[in-house]
Amino acid sequence: MNWGQRIEVFVEYHQIDTRKARNMDFLLVLMYHIPVDSSRQFIVDTKRSLGQFFTVSKNPFELKGFQEWAEKANLPKQTILEPFAGANHIIKSLQDLQLCNEFISYDIHPAAEDVKECDTLKTFPTGFEVCVTNPPWLARNSATRRNLPYPTCEYDNMYKFCLELCLSYCKFVAALIPASFLQSELFRERLCTYILLHNQIFNETDNPVCLALFIDVESESTKVYYDDRFVGNLEDLEANLPRATKEQYIRFNDPDGQLGFISFDNTRERSIRFCEAAEIETYDIKHSSRFITRIGGDFGRRRNLLKDLNEAVQVFRDETDDLFLTPFKGIRDDGQYRRRMFYSLARDLINAV
Ligand SMILES: C[S@@+](CC[C@H](N)C(=O)[O-])C[C@H]1O[C@@H](n2cnc3c(N)ncnc32)[C@H](O)[C@@H]1O
Repeated sequence: MNWGQRIEVFVEYHQIDTRKARNMDFLLVLMYHIPVDSSRQFIVDTKRSLGQFFTVSKNPFELKGFQEWAEKANLPKQTILEPFAGANHIIKSLQDLQLCNEFISYDIHPAAEDVKECDTLKTFPTGFEVCVTNPPWLARNSATRRNLPYPTCEYDNMYKFCLELCLSYCKFVAALIPASFLQSELFRERLCTYILLHNQIFNETDNPVCLALFIDVESESTKVYYDDRFVGNLEDLEANLPRATKEQYIRFNDPDGQLGFISFDNTRERSIRFCEAAEIETYDIKHSSRFITRIGGDFGRRRNLLKDLNEAVQVFRDETDDLFLTPFKGIRDDGQYRRRMFYSLARDLINAV
């Protein structure tokens, strides 16, 4: 494949609008990683094995939550480590805001002159107080399915292993990672701020992104922001999680269940809801159904159950600003991420109503 063909494959695969400089930059970063005899599948697998790349539409480091963290970390006076730097976009975005005066950037396949070559998963750089990065994201099951290398670790996604390394070696860590990180409940002790980003970052899969900010000591509380809007302290918001008042027989994905549940929002509005099983009778309910399901249980004698449950869903969503519902691909018409309610949470809600 010659260079012209390689560019064509990239442009087609990524549906890149080559008139936009930002996309061209992105294109060049990607091309750097692809050998001349590449094929379309190789492109996909290479990108998967190295983690995803981002295009940034708005500098996420301008946000209030990040600025507060940058002050705590004394960022402009530090030598910042970027251990998974690619084309060094993170450092450039920090420099644009005069937040970075000294840095050292590494990548297994550097895509810029000021990035040094290093397999930082094998040999993590030492001697840095502050690390700002977006580590590779790669699900273990995706790596196994595609026969891609995956580090020896307990985590189901590579970014969690990278984050553990950053936190072991650095006092202050800022990481652009999947927004579902919050639901993993990992590394909570040092998490001082969680910023859910709505329009700043575009990645290949449209997976929701957050900026997780960690400090050197146990954090008294974790501040939650949606972009620049302060939502609350995580601990206060958690007080609104449903508390089961009873334990009853409930079986999700029961083909004969009498209660229906649509666990995700549509693209227009908040639409997670319980419904009559008959409304979703055309859906084939399998053991693995995760989005639309029927629930078995002793619901027959409960008057107004549907109304009570759906009111409880709305109150819960209002009180917690949707924080404990997993952000889901795609932004709703109101500018917020679509959300999904895990069955474990739906179960707690049923047991609380
Ligand atoms: C999510 S991308 C970050 C891209 C970069 N921040 C940018 O904007 O171009 C993850 C980066 O991690 C790098 N990477 C993956 N495995 C690595 C390893 N073992 N050691 C060092 N870098 C690695 C990839 O090459 C990729 O550049």
